Amino acid sequence: MSNKSTPLARPLKVGKKTAANRFCIQPMECSDSTPTGGFSERSIERYTNLFKGGAGIIVFESITLQRDYIARTNQISLNINDPESIKAWAEFIKKMKDINPDPLLIIQLTHSGEISGGGEGRRMCVKPLYGFEGDLITDEYADDVIQTWAKASKILYDCGADGVDLKLCHGYLGSQILRPYNDRDWKYGGSWEKRSSFAYNLYDAVRKEVPDPSFILGSKISMWEGIPGGQGSAGPDTPIIDLTESIDLCKGLVDHGASFILQSTGTPVHTCALHMPDRRKADDTYIHMTMAKIIEDNVPDDICVIGSAYSVINKGKNTLKAVPPEWNSLIHWGNYNIDHGYVDMIALGRQSLADPMLPVKYLEDREDEINWCVACDSCAELLTQQENVGCVVHNKPYAEVLRECRKNKGRVTETQIGG
Ligand SMILES: Cc1cc2nc3c(=O)[nH]c(=O)nc-3n(C[C@H](O)[C@H](O)[C@H](O)COP(=O)(O)O)c2cc1C
Repeated sequence: MSNKSTPLARPLKVGKKTAANRFCIQPMECSDSTPTGGFSERSIERYTNLFKGGAGIIVFESITLQRDYIARTNQISLNINDPESIKAWAEFIKKMKDINPDPLLIIQLTHSGEISGGGEGRRMCVKPLYGFEGDLITDEYADDVIQTWAKASKILYDCGADGVDLKLCHGYLGSQILRPYNDRDWKYGGSWEKRSSFAYNLYDAVRKEVPDPSFILGSKISMWEGIPGGQGSAGPDTPIIDLTESIDLCKGLVDHGASFILQSTGTPVHTCALHMPDRRKADDTYIHMTMAKIIEDNVPDDICVIGSAYSVINKGKNTLKAVPPEWNSLIHWGNYNIDHGYVDMIALGRQSLADPMLPVKYLEDREDEINWCVACDSCAELLTQQENVGCVVHNKPYAEVLRECRKNKGRVTETQIGG
């Protein structure tokens, strides 16, 4: 049987557009912009390869809209007040669509909040979190962020993007506001109604700027962050799982115009191994599968639910137990979960750095040519160290970047890794 007749190859409606297959490329910050946040040769090469790879959706990595929102010195930016920056985005998107018009290009917008850093970044927090303090966000500041994201969305729409991922995960600002930990009394703090209204006001503001219903809105969310008071926890001071708010968020986002939800769990900075399981803790991938199914069970059928954390499964190089070899495969679980209606698409994070061509290789029955991610997490180490990011196993220049980085800066420990 050709792979073209498998669930992963089926096209899917996403809002009013169509993804050509069920592969989604995760947003993957690679810290390789020009010094002013523009597209470097390396960043253009990365996206050229991803567009050649032919995934149904490509979610462009977290971009910053103001220099003080950044987490990484070399984070790609869109400066909404700079015609040169806007022109560069228009040219970039045209170039990518010329390479391959099929992938839907969704741009992830973020503000790094209390994990801002990298030189110009200014740490902003909803309420000081131990180890991650910053300046307290005011009502006006949060509303200004909403307007900035809305204006950026309009610019990206005009530049030819297919949609935006309004980032609400991983301990960045959008997620900090949603947390039960945000129990300070302010416009977007305290009750769930007030905390979630930030996300809903954001969606409404973006839709007002871009009334065209074919422009896709959606969010990557952390269903459960795994820290006391994090998203998906039972209260401001407990890590106990209670998904009531996370489920309500999914429904609310849909009511406010979301066409996709990109599931995530954990956060790279606080609960890294949960968020992107490494090969020693590969079974955390099952938690992600479960969370995606919970979203599926709670949103209408026409909402695209995208599952995360498949890279660790790769082609069986991991510690998963009690599975026959034919099940210990990313492709197996992708097809199985789609076929059973547990998820609509699967997203590739670290695997997309190991082999941006995976979708086309799979669809053309060239699976034996795929370079598999080994979940070594060196890409995350490079990101943490503010270096250019790539796969050190399958892309030689990045092995050299890592060698130099460790020589000059030392190794990072697991708990420091964060993306
Ligand atoms: C180097 C690196 C950069 C990342 N950048 C982003 C990002 O820009 N936005 C985001 O939502 N997640 C980001 N993540 C998280 C991934 O998108 C993904 O959720 C995670 O790696 C789990 O998927 P995987 O197991 O397929 O790698 C990043 C992860 C890594 C390792």
